[in-house]
This record gives sequence, structure tokens and C-alpha cells, in this order.
Amino acid sequence: MMTMDSHRPQRKPPMSRTSRFVVALICGMTVALSTGSGFTASAGSGVEFPPPPPLGLDEVPVPEDNPMTPAKVDLGRRLFFEKRISGDGTIACASCHMPQRGFSNGRQYAIGIGGRIGLRNAPTIINAAYNDTHFWDGRAKSLEEQAKGPIQHPAEMGATEAHIAKTLGALPSYRESFQRVFGSEKITLDRVVKAIATFERTILSGNSLFDRWFFGGDKAALTPAAVRGFKLFRGRGNCVKCHLVDSFSAPFTDHKFHNVGVGFDGRPTHPGREKITKRARDRGKFKTPTLRDISKTMPYMHDGSLKTLEEVIDYYDRGGLANPNLDPDMKPLKFSKLEKSDLLAFLHSLDGSPPIIQAPRPSR
Ligand code: HEC
Ligand code: HEC
Repeated sequence: MMTMDSHRPQRKPPMSRTSRFVVALICGMTVALSTGSGFTASAGSGVEFPPPPPLGLDEVPVPEDNPMTPAKVDLGRRLFFEKRISGDGTIACASCHMPQRGFSNGRQYAIGIGGRIGLRNAPTIINAAYNDTHFWDGRAKSLEEQAKGPIQHPAEMGATEAHIAKTLGALPSYRESFQRVFGSEKITLDRVVKAIATFERTILSGNSLFDRWFFGGDKAALTPAAVRGFKLFRGRGNCVKCHLVDSFSAPFTDHKFHNVGVGFDGRPTHPGREKITKRARDRGKFKTPTLRDISKTMPYMHDGSLKTLEEVIDYYDRGGLANPNLDPDMKPLKFSKLEKSDLLAFLHSLDGSPPIIQAPRPSR
């Protein structure tokens, strides 16, 4: 563990690396051992909060006006699972971002209150803490802003601030938690999304077999097939052009928008990024998603049109669907059967260690 921790890529100045190391030593390495899920510690116990990110990830950016505390994470977790926030009391964030399904929902589309169906695939919230923008078209700039979307969307949770203040305000345990976290019992939409965003900043997944091999120097961590798959990913496949990996961290996204042709199969297409920028050249562009824990979040793409990773690989192999705005990096790859299975083995090596989140008992 210790060798791996000291190999962890860091962008922080050496001072803080040293102090982190000291903290880790004092705690008998519990910090390193609990990487990715160690946020049960209470303030003042000497354990670093939030804990250092798992191997392969950067420090989580935290907005100045919403600092992380263990109590806020806990409140955010309860709110993430809280169906009573929604207009008819049936849908929570966790209904579409299910921990046991890689924080997605295993369906092509999302299903909101009253069984209403949205036409986009629910992306994972794993490592969303690092994203510059949120949603497939990038219309939200922060996790706080993002969370206001589904809460108020008539086809998702269909709630108003007044409804939330009234329903949660009737429950003493929420009033107590808001008092503890925000200094008063007042329940506002702003506070609700701050707590939820804080919880989301703990849903990190790294320390995969790939990370142990690439950053941790563990030569045995990857199978030869996965190693060959990574070479294709960086080489002839050119996947790394958009699903970024550098020598410091591996977000598997460039946080940019590209048209890889998804949806251009005769059905009415989503405008994608064009809807936000109003520029025709952004038509059909969507945000590059992370590939971490990708084996758990089928089906794939913004419209959930590809059911398996095999289908995704075949899709790229064909060079995507032709359209006037197709990204110049999309070309037929002509992979052999073996190359396809190598790439698949590599994608499976990105299964990491997201924290195990249990649905809390309903708050009273
Ligand atoms: C009815 C299903 C549904 C519910 C409920 C829901 N989401 Fe989502 N979520 C989606 C879909 C679908 C998208 C993609 C929508 C789009 O891009 O237009 C999404 C996108 C996101 C993203 C963007 C990820 C990224 O970086 O692109 C985050 C974060 C997120 N949801 C968090 C939440 C939170 C927090 C809640 C509760 C307040 C919530 N969601 C409730 C279905 C849902
Ligand atoms: C030109 C940039 C670009 C290149 C090159 C690229 N991707 Fe993607 N990738 C994207 C974008 C953008 C999306 C989302 C597209 C959409 O939903 O319309 C995506 C989606 C995916 C998904 C589905 C993710 C999800 O959560 O639904 C997988 C898996 C994937 N890419 C793997 C690969 C592999 C493997 C390669 C190389 C063979 C590759 N990508 C090359 C930009 C790229």
C-alpha cells in the first residue's frame, strides 16, 4: 500500500504531499487503506477530510462557497436517496443514478415521475466532481447548478422549492441536519443542492487494475490482453484523443464536445452542444464521457443506442455514423477480432473502487 501511495501521481506542491504522508503515518495508514470510501471520519480526529483521491485521480475541486464537511456529505447522501423531494414522492436522484448500476440506471432512457420518459441516457455520476460542465450538452457549469435541473424538471422529479421546504421541513431529523450543516433550520433549494453536490464529490472511482499498472507500477495488475488493448487505445484506435490519459491522472475525458455520429441513423437527432452555443458547427456534439466503471453503465451513448461495450467497439471500428459534422478523428479502424477483444479487456480494467453506498433508512 505504501509504495503505491508514494507512487501516486500528484499535481500538488511537495509540502502538502509531505503533510499527507505524515497524516497517513499517524493514522497507521488507514487513510491509504480506506481510499475512496473513507469519509466516515469526524472532524478533529486527525484524519484528512476529504480523504486523498484514489490512485489515478486528481484532487477534487471544491467551490469556495461550498466547503466539504462530513456532516454535509451525510446530509447530501440522505437527500440523494430522498423520494419525498419529488412532486409525487416517488423519484429520488438514486432512482436514475443507482449505486448498484454504476450510478446509472441500466435503461436506454430515464424514467421520471408518473412514468414519464426522457430521451437521454442517464450518465454515471462517478467522477462527475471533475467535470467542467454537466449534462450531455454541458448546459450546467457546476454540480450545484446541475442538481437544480432534475429536481425542478417536470418529467424528472417535478418539485418546487416551496414543496421541498414544506415536506422536508416537517421532518425533525432534516431540520436538525440543516441546522448543523448550514447554521439554521431553513430548508432552501440552494442548501439542498449544496449538500447533494458535496455528497457527489465523494463518488470517486480510481484505483482500478489499470491505475495500479499505469500509476502504481504493479506490472502484474493487467493481463497481456488488457496491455495490448491499452496500446490500441493510445495508438491506432486514437481513443485517447478524446478519452484523455496523462502521466498525472486518467480522467478518460477531455471535458470537450465531439460529434462521433451517434444518433445520425435517420431518427430525429438531438442538436447536442448546438443547443447551448447556437453554432451550427456544434451540431451533434456531445460531452466526452468518462470511461471509468464503464462495464457497469450499459447501455451507452447519449441516446442509450448501443447496448454493450462490444457494440461500442464495433461502432468505432466502422468509424461512426457519417454526417456532415463528423469529428475528423473518426475513421474506420479495421480492428481484427483479437484487437477488439483486447480493447474490451482494457475497458474492463477500468472498473475501479467507487464507494459502496447503501440506501439510508428514511429520515423522520
Ligand atoms: C428521471 C431520471 C433522473 C433523475 C431523477 C435524476 N437524474 Fe441525473 N441525469 C439523468 C439524465 C437522463 C441525465 C442526462 C441528461 C442530459 O444530459 O440532458 C442526467 C445527468 C446528470 C448529471 C450529469 C453528469 C455529467 O457530468 O454529465 C449529474 C451529475 C446528475 N444527473 C445528478 C443527478 C442528481 C444530483 C439528481 C437528484 C437531484 C438527479 N441527477 C436526478 C437522469 C436523472
Ligand atoms: C473524437 C473524440 C472521440 C474519440 C476519438 C473516441 N471517443 Fe468515445 N466518446 C466520445 C464522445 C463525444 C462520446 C459520447 C457520444 C454520444 O453519446 O453521442 C463517447 C462515448 C464513448 C463510450 C460510451 C460511454 C458512455 O458512458 O455511454 C465508450 C465506451 C467510448 N466512447 C469508447 C471509446 C473507444 C474505445 C474509442 C477508441 C476506439 C473512442 N471512444 C474514441 C468521444 C470520442
